[in-house]
Amino acid sequence: MILTVTLNPALDKNYVVDNFALTGIHRVQSMSTIPAGKGLNVSRVLKQLEVPTVATGILGGHTGKLIQAKLNEEQVDNDFVWIRAESRCSILIVDQNKKAHTEVIEPGPSIPRGALARLSKKLEELAPTASWVVFSGSPPPDTSHQVYFNLIKLAQQAGAKVVLDTRGPWLKAGIEAQPDVIKPNWDEFQELVGPCYSTVQALEKAKKIVARGVNTVVVSMGSKGALAVHGEERYVIQSLPPIEVVSAVGCGDTLVAGLLATWHAGGGFAEALRDGSALATSNAAHFGAGIFDPQQVTALKKMITVEKIPIGGP
Ligand SMILES: Nc1ncnc2c1ncn2[C@@H]1O[C@H](COP(=O)(O)OP(=O)(O)OP(=O)(O)O)[C@@H](O)[C@H]1O
Ligand SMILES: [Mg+2]
Repeated sequence: MILTVTLNPALDKNYVVDNFALTGIHRVQSMSTIPAGKGLNVSRVLKQLEVPTVATGILGGHTGKLIQAKLNEEQVDNDFVWIRAESRCSILIVDQNKKAHTEVIEPGPSIPRGALARLSKKLEELAPTASWVVFSGSPPPDTSHQVYFNLIKLAQQAGAKVVLDTRGPWLKAGIEAQPDVIKPNWDEFQELVGPCYSTVQALEKAKKIVARGVNTVVVSMGSKGALAVHGEERYVIQSLPPIEVVSAVGCGDTLVAGLLATWHAGGGFAEALRDGSALATSNAAHFGAGIFDPQQVTALKKMITVEKIPIGGP
């Protein structure tokens, strides 16, 4: 089973409006309300790929109950730690004509110390049954930078492999625990390692992180593809097939889920990166995080090339 941990889940309200502007009344044409926050998106994709998954983390209040009810509707197994404060909401406004894409994200409730202790206990219970534990997303702003470091250590002690997909100080501190995989996007990666002016330079910097004990660094680059260092090996996806982009929310989470699903099934790294990218690209063509079309994914897999860069190459 693949366990996902989300410290700050959100209820995503996705609105489609015409002629979106900064002022004025906007009547919503169509909408969807789905549980989100990075790990939940990963579990949603895994569930659709028929990979056993459990979502854990912290939920609170009425919004938390709604998030859980919707996860149950989607038949995503979940086992959360509960707090009194309300889980957050995020609003996404899409205007297809103007190609406008606006997100408003609440910070989320502070995590009480007792809740973190309960989450650690839950992780000790659940992680021994997991092959992978995925820690995803930004915790509430006032959360200790060490939070993922400590949780990763618990998962590792239970024998699970770890993915860390977060940003800023939590990523920086979390890397010290040597997770097996990190998956920053291009901005998050540069925040970590400093500015990169080429793929070659980015690969060099990713290699230095691998030398610090992270086995696999995947840097996703939105519509430009991805690059990766996996142990001694280096890979790039130079281009992606053109698609009609609807919403890129949750693309990174979809990539992580696809990567793990193929690995879980015994596939190699290049194949896993291709599959994750195909799923993520299909997610970009759909409304909502972790939503994709399996037929489109099959077609995209055939069109995506993962290049292995020879050792000593550029
Ligand atoms: N505009 C796009 N067109 C095609 N594919 C895309 C696009 N945006 C994202 N993708 C696909 O999704 C992958 C991950 O995207 P991105 O780098 O934006 O992740 P992210 O910023 O971590 O996303 P999130 O954190 O919202 O889940 C890309 O490597 C690519 O395969
Ligand atoms: Mg991301």
